[in-house]
Amino acid sequence: MDAKRLAGERAADYVEDGMAVGLGTGSTVYWTLMKLGERIKDGLHIKGIATSKATEKLAAELGIPLTDFAEVEQLDLAIDGADEFDARLQLIKGGGGALLREKLVAANAKRFIVVADDSKAVTNLGKFPLPVEVVQFGWEATRRQLEKLGCSTQLRMKEQAPFISDNGNYIIDCQFEAITDDAVKLNEQMNRIPGVVENGLFVNMADLVIVGGRDGVVTEQ
Ligand code: 5RP
Repeated sequence: MDAKRLAGERAADYVEDGMAVGLGTGSTVYWTLMKLGERIKDGLHIKGIATSKATEKLAAELGIPLTDFAEVEQLDLAIDGADEFDARLQLIKGGGGALLREKLVAANAKRFIVVADDSKAVTNLGKFPLPVEVVQFGWEATRRQLEKLGCSTQLRMKEQAPFISDNGNYIIDCQFEAITDDAVKLNEQMNRIPGVVENGLFVNMADLVIVGGRDGVVTEQ
């Protein structure tokens, strides 16, 4: 079975009746949502908060009831994918451009489970360009400030126009040589730059990473 599917489906086992669940974005957590859709047909009762418009749409198609933070003070669990994870469960996320809602949802969950295939495991974060969501106004100035942190940058494009996030913002992808033991500091430095809304470093947030191996074995770390 596909490695992403193995990890995604396993995560659905952690969802219990009555839970409020953060629903991530991407092709790995897709399998979690599919599984949850099946379990709901069999009588599972949950409420979800989606991390993107795409996940909102998929949840509606699968019959997963949605709620919001007006109704829910804290989620029991959030499940989401990652673009990179290291041995300390630090992550880079935002490859799909949903990092702001993803971080907000994970930060307001009692437990945060990450699902990934084994190609996402890294020794040092940073090979994957770090996505940073910025407001459109003055984005060129924000970009220059980001570059002072030691990265080269690229405005994310889609069909020859800037990619627009679900929140109406731009994404700047920041390529570092490597992000070693300074991920906590870098996360803070980035978010202090005026114009930055959020960045894709998820430090000290993940409680568990479920990894699907291309050999068909699922591990939890
Ligand atoms: C979207 C994300 C995704 O979780 C991340 O890109 C992983 O996606 P996939 O499971 O498709 O590899 O952060 O913003």
